[in-house]
Amino acid sequence: MTVTGTPVARLEGRDKVTGAARYAAEYRDVGGEPAHAAIVGAAVPAGRVLDVDRASALTLPGVLAVLWHGNAPTIGSAGDGELQVLQSDVVAYRGQIVAVVVAETSEQATYAASVLDVTYESRQCDNELREHHPGIYAPEQVNAGFDTDVVTGEPERRFEESAVCVDVRYTTPPEHNAPMEPHASIAAWSEDGSTLTVWDSTQAPSGVAGDLADLFGVDSDAVRVIARHVGGGFGSKGSTRPNAVVAAMASSVVGRPVSFPVPRRSTFDFVGYRTPTIQRVRLSADANGSMTALLHDSLQQTSTVMEYVEQTSEGSRHVYDIDDVSTTHRAVALDVGTPRWMRAPGEAPGMFALECAVDELAHALGTDPVELRLRNEPSVDPADGHPYSSRTVRAVFEEGARRFGWSGRDPRPAVRREGRTLVGTGVAMATYPAMTSPSTARATVRDDGTVDVSVAASDIGTGARTVLAQIAADALEVALDRVHIHVGDSALPTAPGAGGSSGTSSWGWAVTKACRALRSDGDLSPGATATADTTDDLEERAALARQAFGAHFAEVHVDVDTGEVRVTRMLGVFSVGRVLNPRLARSQLLGGMVFGIGMALMEEGIVDRRHGGFLNADLAEYHLPVDADVADIEAIWVEEHDDDLNPMGSKGIGEIGIVGSPAAIANAVFHACGVRVRDLPITLDTLI
Ligand code: MOS
Repeated sequence: MTVTGTPVARLEGRDKVTGAARYAAEYRDVGGEPAHAAIVGAAVPAGRVLDVDRASALTLPGVLAVLWHGNAPTIGSAGDGELQVLQSDVVAYRGQIVAVVVAETSEQATYAASVLDVTYESRQCDNELREHHPGIYAPEQVNAGFDTDVVTGEPERRFEESAVCVDVRYTTPPEHNAPMEPHASIAAWSEDGSTLTVWDSTQAPSGVAGDLADLFGVDSDAVRVIARHVGGGFGSKGSTRPNAVVAAMASSVVGRPVSFPVPRRSTFDFVGYRTPTIQRVRLSADANGSMTALLHDSLQQTSTVMEYVEQTSEGSRHVYDIDDVSTTHRAVALDVGTPRWMRAPGEAPGMFALECAVDELAHALGTDPVELRLRNEPSVDPADGHPYSSRTVRAVFEEGARRFGWSGRDPRPAVRREGRTLVGTGVAMATYPAMTSPSTARATVRDDGTVDVSVAASDIGTGARTVLAQIAADALEVALDRVHIHVGDSALPTAPGAGGSSGTSSWGWAVTKACRALRSDGDLSPGATATADTTDDLEERAALARQAFGAHFAEVHVDVDTGEVRVTRMLGVFSVGRVLNPRLARSQLLGGMVFGIGMALMEEGIVDRRHGGFLNADLAEYHLPVDADVADIEAIWVEEHDDDLNPMGSKGIGEIGIVGSPAAIANAVFHACGVRVRDLPITLDTLI
């Protein structure tokens, strides 16, 4: 009997529901009474800041300081242009931080910022992603270091010569991460200015500490970042964000702690968002349904602040058994905030296009879409020929089809009517890489024989803390209540962030290694301690393709009068290695699938073409699925044993739930009413 594999409830669940859990902006014992920061976001679409009327603002009640590029402390670089807060007069996009007001209270800071007189030189902006834009270029590489273009065989020629061809264009809009807890930071410098403590809402305490050290010119161990509880991030807190820089800079100026909770409005401005994409997919097959060629070209936006180019076409390199494949990425730098990671960056928009195109191909062939996918299953990774550590695609589709009641489905669109609705079903594949990064961890025995296990992981609501305690208990061969798990603090052993669905794998490996070392040293005697670093373990791994998979099935009802789409049933079946905590895993997978409902039907950042910025300012104007939008939804998994991944045998589960789920819904909408909507979100006006 192991502790992993059991549905342990979140260890901090009681603290969260009783309000005892502290989130970044809630800390009060921060080495003095904190002052409060508020920012002014640029009111012009692009241009320069000419002046800020500091004098008037400084006469307002409680105002302690007014910062702009003319008086802000000079900071170093952490390789991210968005962190160069107040370092120049350039306004790259509407909403970018152009001034910071620090005051005694939050209300005083907010009021002073709201009336602060900023003089700009404005220029016309170009913030529209469009084909044939003159600024389109091929970047050196795309996000996460993937290749910009990969071509194998002769895809153009094979495509032209194929019996059945689909040549389609899909677009996805900007999307916002919208965590329940907006970004927030409290920063406090020591009196002599040598050390900095930041309470930050982040997915990566070690990463933020390192970046702030670089920016403020101190040793990395002089910065401590505390993030014990984080109310979601979805990638938008995966790297250091400007809020941490604002708080740290303001604290250095006023000589006391400064709190900066980012207003919801600003979370649409400067913390990152998912790039819009324009994608062309060409997919062909012979008359038997063997895929012959795939060409996936994607265009995405970046900013003038720094380059971020999403790896939209990357996923298409790994899915089907096709010899002749071309995948390309292009970008254009617009007058916009820099796009950034959002749950399954690359795969989420890219697999939407690919998996809709597969459905269109199945329709053109007259082949069942499940059957078409299984007919084109590769035996090795199509991108590089590496064997898979495990690839359990057949089982997820077969199990899903059986549970969902797929067999006997009439493929004809728009023929099932129930009262005022048309009913349809759709399917799509999910896949996401099973990544692992080097981590460290430490285990130390207390006098009472219980064990402190420490790693600078971040629990962003996923239950990471709980699953790490379970992993530690098994490695120590003790009961769960003998383990004290410590995460969410950069003072703990250095760890990678919660991102890329790699947290549990990365941290859990280090925790296992430290705990096993302690165990093998003897009898867990008080004071015994062991530390672990998995850098070498990761370097020694075989060259295998490591990937999680899944199959999404969706049923929709489309109202024939209004065009309203309701997702009445959704089933995700996943192969994710060993499931370490079924309760937490189900929650992660369902959360991803619900994200998929949002992506398919609701979420859309609306750009103001003339004045710049996003018009959505809150969750009333940026629609997310709520409980009422989620009917019969279930996530399950098939048995998968994979000894190669990490000592736990687990694959990441944070992102795969969103990959493919919007395509399953879009494919179901086509099956229901016969309308192919290739531009997300699928709103009711597109169906009537
Ligand atoms: Mo995720 S977008 O890698 O936090």
